Amino acid sequence: MARCEFSQLSRDEPCCPLSRRGRLCLGLALLVLILSAAVLLVALTRSPTPTPEALAWNGTGSTRNLFAIVLGRCYTYTQLLRPGLGSEACPKILDAFKSAFISKNPCDIMKEDYQPLVDLVNQTVPCNKSLFWSKSKELAHQYSWVQGGMFTLEDTLLGYLADDLTWCGDPSSVEPNYQSCPRWNECLNHTGSVFWKVISQKFAESACGVVQVMLNGSLSKPFHKSSTFGSVELFSLDPRKVHTLQAWVMHDIRGNYSDSCSGPSIRELESIVNKRNITFTCQNNYRPARLVQCVKNIEHSSCASKI
Ligand SMILES: *[C@@H]1O[C@H](CO)[C@@H](O)[C@H](O)[C@H]1NC(C)=O
Ligand SMILES: *[C@@H]1O[C@H](CO)[C@@H](O)[C@H](O)[C@H]1NC(C)=O
Ligand SMILES: *[C@@H]1O[C@H](CO)[C@@H](O)[C@H](O)[C@H]1NC(C)=O
Ligand SMILES: *[C@@H]1O[C@H](CO)[C@@H](O)[C@H](O)[C@H]1NC(C)=O
Ligand SMILES: *[C@@H]1O[C@H](CO)[C@@H](O)[C@H](O)[C@H]1NC(C)=O
Ligand SMILES: *[C@@H]1O[C@H](CO)[C@@H](O)[C@H](O)[C@H]1NC(C)=O
Ligand SMILES: *[C@@H]1O[C@H](CO)[C@@H](O)[C@H](O)[C@H]1NC(C)=O
Repeated sequence: MARCEFSQLSRDEPCCPLSRRGRLCLGLALLVLILSAAVLLVALTRSPTPTPEALAWNGTGSTRNLFAIVLGRCYTYTQLLRPGLGSEACPKILDAFKSAFISKNPCDIMKEDYQPLVDLVNQTVPCNKSLFWSKSKELAHQYSWVQGGMFTLEDTLLGYLADDLTWCGDPSSVEPNYQSCPRWNECLNHTGSVFWKVISQKFAESACGVVQVMLNGSLSKPFHKSSTFGSVELFSLDPRKVHTLQAWVMHDIRGNYSDSCSGPSIRELESIVNKRNITFTCQNNYRPARLVQCVKNIEHSSCASKI
């Protein structure tokens, strides 16, 4: 015979058949049953299938609104900045960008993954107009913007699309990993570093005539063999097309003056360039770029004279 567990008065008192207390118990039990069913239903509809955990990395996650930014930049570049490249390719360019890394391990990306994207963009930089930089990105960009005719890597479409963005995928998802991405030194075949390697190589291979590199003279070593310029771009210049490499060693305007062109770091660069049968020249504080620095430092003595 069933006993009513809720009965507090007498454990021995039988609750059936349908005493007043028994009916109350039955009602309570039903209420509990309905409530738990409702809770279960809400829980089930909230998360239909439990998603597997994304891989966790040490770097910051993909830039929010990544795909909207890339598509928007593509239209801005091809329609407003450099009309003539063909903005109708933008949706395809976005798709090729997605396919390169979506649903893949961000430490397992190969150059070939970005090839379809690179093949969609046939942009040529005019001879004498390529500007490489190393540890001087801000000034190089300001100079090329003011000067108008020069191209840094980020003034080409592919560099422009990705400048300052972070992105990576995850094997368990068709979305970018917004939680975390590997840092550049976390692995070799890295979503971001492979991309920049591929496009900087292409940028350097297509350079011709006289090319420039802006280096940072406020650092103890303005030229680093391990930098993208020192490890990829320098060796991708084609000596049959590039006859001269001009280095501009720029010092911070409030830093000390030093003759970096005659220092050991630039000497090393010179010897590499000469071995590749390319003529090398070097200038400390190339005047037109110096004047760009002066815009923010009008009062400084090196800006006042000789204008
Ligand atoms: C890009 O250029 C290469 C060689 O110059 C050519 O084979 C290819 O068809 C071009 N691609 C597009 C999309 O124009
Ligand atoms: C590139 O610069 C060199 C040397 O200043 C010059 O002889 C050549 O005509 C220039 N080429 C173009 C395409 O402007
Ligand atoms: C040189 O590098 C320092 C440190 O990264 C930076 O603050 C400075 O703006 C750079 N100078 C130039 C001319 O790019
Ligand atoms: C990530 O960071 C943790 C904690 O700082 C460290 O123990 C680990 O080695 C790092 N992993 C990589 C791949 O750098
Ligand atoms: C990176 O990819 C290359 C092929 O592009 C491969 O030979 C190499 O083993 C990979 N390295 C790592 C650490 O996965
Ligand atoms: C300039 O050189 C002086 C003396 O060598 C040093 O004390 C100072 O810190 C340097 N300033 C900068 C900005 O590097
Ligand atoms: C450089 O030029 C010399 C003579 O013109 C030639 O013998 C040599 O093979 C060239 N070196 C390279 C790396 O192209």
